[in-house]
Amino acid sequence: MERTLIIIKPDGVQRSLVGEVIARFERRGLRIAGLKLMHISRALAEEHYAEHKGKPFYEGTVRYMTSAPVVVMVLEGPNAIQAARQTMGKTHPLEAAPGTIRGDFGLDIARNLVHGSDKPETAEREIALYFKPEELVSYQRVTDAWLSE
Ligand code: CMP
Repeated sequence: MERTLIIIKPDGVQRSLVGEVIARFERRGLRIAGLKLMHISRALAEEHYAEHKGKPFYEGTVRYMTSAPVVVMVLEGPNAIQAARQTMGKTHPLEAAPGTIRGDFGLDIARNLVHGSDKPETAEREIALYFKPEELVSYQRVTDAWLSE
C-alpha cells in the first residue's frame, strides 16, 4: 500500500474540474485518505517547489500555485504514485496521452491542472507539507478486495 499527494491546481478549480478529476482517480481504484480545499501561501509554495528555485519557471509556478484555491488530497492504493501519475499524464499537456487528465483538459505546461508526487520519498515529504497526521483517515472500502489481491 502506497500513498501519494495530489493537488488539483488553481486552473482545475477555476475551470470546475474538481469533480471530474477526483472521479478519474476514484474510478482508477485509488482510495481517498485525505481531502481539503485550501489557498496555498507563498511560504508553502516556496517550500514545495524548493528544488526548482532558480529555474526560469520557478517564480511563475509559485505565483500560479498561490493565485487561487486548490484541492489537495492524499490517495492510497497499491503503487498509488505510479498509478496516479499515469492517470494525470505527462507534465506537459501536449505530451500527455489522450485519456489522461492533462491530455484531455490541458494545453500549457504552466497550466497543467494537477500535481502528483513523483516517488515515495517525495510523497512522504509533500503529504507532511499539506496534511497533519490526524487529517488522514485509514479505512477499508467493500470494493478494495476487488481491486487487488
Ligand atoms: P508539477 O508536477 O507541479 O512540478 C513542477 C511544476 O512547474 C510543473 O508541474 C508545472 O506546473 C510547472 N512548470 C511550469 N513551467 C515548467 C517547465 N518549463 N518545466 C517544468 N515544469 C514547469
